[in-house]
Amino acid sequence: VRDSNDKLKVLVFAASSRKESSNKKLINLAAKFVQKEHIVDSVDFLEFDTPLYNGDIEEKTGIPQPALSFIDKLESSDCLIMSSPEYNFSVPGSLKNLIDWVSRKSPMPWKNVPILLMSASPSLAGGSRGLLCTRVPLEVCGAYVYPKMFSLSNCYEAFDEEGQLKDKKNQEYLLKVISNFLAFAKDLLYHRST
Ligand SMILES: Cc1cc2nc3c(=O)[nH]c(=O)nc-3n(C[C@H](O)[C@H](O)[C@H](O)COP(=O)(O)O)c2cc1C
Repeated sequence: VRDSNDKLKVLVFAASSRKESSNKKLINLAAKFVQKEHIVDSVDFLEFDTPLYNGDIEEKTGIPQPALSFIDKLESSDCLIMSSPEYNFSVPGSLKNLIDWVSRKSPMPWKNVPILLMSASPSLAGGSRGLLCTRVPLEVCGAYVYPKMFSLSNCYEAFDEEGQLKDKKNQEYLLKVISNFLAFAKDLLYHRST
């Protein structure tokens, strides 16, 4: 972003590979909204299926190709929006594994990346405890994780046939969080480049 009117290139993905994933539905809804004004790169988490971190693999063959591909995506984007399930009140192991592999590249690919975290969960409590855990490694790696996060509860009943949220007030809130995040990302990137 060189100019405050420039479009952002926004990387989006759901940290669930399931065909019927609610997190995929949520990220698709977000992507539709973002692409009205920005450029969206929507990627499939399965493409970045990386072996469990192992220092011997790293020493022998370096960072595995799927994690390198993710790093390429990250480095060619301005910011990231991800939607992740909560597993046992925490970050899914597959996502944490990818975060860890990516963090082994120098310079650190997560550094200064603006990130919006979202979660869809069938529980009434939503996935916010998982998101709090997901913030930690990303912030430690230098990412700017946006303070507000969006957690969708009761997700199996939340979407209509068009993929919109049935609860219109909640959808309005989601779009507001995304808009505010994009403004934050733009300010951050614009001020850094001037
Ligand atoms: C190992 C495991 C642990 C889970 N732990 C939680 C949890 O702590 N909180 C929660 O709300 N849902 C939990 N769930 C349920 C997931 O939220 C649910 O499977 C959800 O649909 C996963 O997201 P997806 O639809 O995007 O695949 C868990 C599911 C799995 C497989």
